[in-house]
Amino acid sequence: MSQILTPASFSWLADFLKAKSGLVLGPDKQYLLDSRLLPIARSEGCAGLEALVAKLRAQPSSKLASAVVDAMTTNESFFFRDGKPFEHFKAILPRLLAGKPAGQPLRIWSAACSTGQEAYSLAMLLTEAKAMLGGRGVEILGTDLSAEVLARAKDGLYTQFEVQRGLPVTHLVKYFTKDGSNWKLKDPIRAMVSWRAWNLLDDPTPLGRFDVVFCRNVLIYFDQPTKGKVLESMAKLMPPDGVL
Ligand SMILES: C[S@@+](CC[C@H](N)C(=O)[O-])C[C@H]1O[C@@H](n2cnc3c(N)ncnc32)[C@H](O)[C@@H]1O
Repeated sequence: MSQILTPASFSWLADFLKAKSGLVLGPDKQYLLDSRLLPIARSEGCAGLEALVAKLRAQPSSKLASAVVDAMTTNESFFFRDGKPFEHFKAILPRLLAGKPAGQPLRIWSAACSTGQEAYSLAMLLTEAKAMLGGRGVEILGTDLSAEVLARAKDGLYTQFEVQRGLPVTHLVKYFTKDGSNWKLKDPIRAMVSWRAWNLLDDPTPLGRFDVVFCRNVLIYFDQPTKGKVLESMAKLMPPDGVL
């Protein structure tokens, strides 16, 4: 199977990915094409990447297009990733709550949430900090471009490997039940998060307003103007004391 793209096809694919997802496909990323796109080329009956791009060009807004965009994005995530942002969130929680009118829920957006570990980490953290909330409602929204990762997030089912990355064992015991060789998040934690397919390149106004936005490990794939545009649109949804 041919694995080399002509410069014209590479350039078309790079423009396509940037327009659809913001992803910048630099020449240094050529190596990714084989591992990410050849399986799709095979399942589409294409002789190679060149044939796959030709098919895509003929139907740039199709299921195939979503599959290609999905395959080119990186979905890596884990519970309480990097620790610090969650510690910081917990530390500022009293100030955030004090600044909010009574009766209004605290709204948190996990933007580009992948398979949901970030949003569920926040749900577990807030459950642990229940006393601090003093009955205040909390809404956590997880969004991602990929329907596939969102379906996994919604399921709340994680492998042994996934629950061994970042999740304190006390949380595993308290908030998960064993499901075959996997682990399922218990309903009260799952119920704290809602999920929605959303492209960060789109105007997020319909998502409502947020006190806190977690937008992590996704802007690194965008160029500077796109990062600026995404951050500006997020800022518009947040109060002056909101936290990104
Ligand atoms: C590396 S994961 C980050 C997950 C999580 N935020 C974390 O830090 O662990 C990046 C996610 O960004 C999503 N993504 C990429 N481009 C996007 C876009 N334009 N709009 C929404 N989500 C996007 C991908 O589908 C992927 O699930």
